[in-house]
Amino acid sequence: MSSRLFKGSLFIVFLMPLVVLLFGLFNEQLGANPIEVLTRDTGQWALRFLLISLSISPLRLLFGWHFLAPIRRMVGLYCFFYASVHMLLYIWLDQFFNLGDIIDDIIERPFITVGVISFLALIPLAVTSNDKMKKRLGSERWKKLHSLVYFIGMAGALHFFMLVKKDITEPLIYIAILVILLGIRLFRYGRRKLISF
Ligand code: HEM
Repeated sequence: MSSRLFKGSLFIVFLMPLVVLLFGLFNEQLGANPIEVLTRDTGQWALRFLLISLSISPLRLLFGWHFLAPIRRMVGLYCFFYASVHMLLYIWLDQFFNLGDIIDDIIERPFITVGVISFLALIPLAVTSNDKMKKRLGSERWKKLHSLVYFIGMAGALHFFMLVKKDITEPLIYIAILVILLGIRLFRYGRRKLISF
């Protein structure tokens, strides 16, 4: 399969969670609280895409899956897309675009504060994700900026952890995956430093 076809097919596949949600919404299949389902599912997908984008380098390293390299940017942008939809749903359907209520909520509910921090940190990564910006920033600075993604992942998972009331299994799974991915990165970084020492 050509790289273009591979990327094009995945572009459509990655849009499917939203299509399924919209289908469910218009066919009244999202249960008694469709707004909650929409908000929660888009948040989950934002976090999943973030983890997928972080997994690409380790998968290339461990299994030689280099065919994944060209889709990393698209996966990262899908994370930003789902996070944006998630945030817009909150502003629109939860807060009815009332800026005062939104600010009060950010101050009063720590899990919202953490979600907002995580979303704001995603913006510079999305804006600088293209080759032109990479060139302009220089590879080292670009890499440093983009290592923010681990912090964003932790903040996203913490945001989830803080809002669950009983069963913390799901957010803990996300946190465990992030810790493993961060561990692999630190291990590689440490080894590189040792070699160049
Ligand atoms: C402006 C930023 C954000 C706001 C205002 C926000 C708000 C919310 C709200 C209101 C909920 C649902 C809470 C409930 O139903 O009780 C939620 C859930 C969630 N959010 Fe966010 N969020 C933001 C950013 C993010 C980001 C950047 C991520 C991921 C990287 C994320 C991931 C999640 C997850 C995983 C859930 C839980 C889903 C579940 O319960 O199954 N959120 N968020």
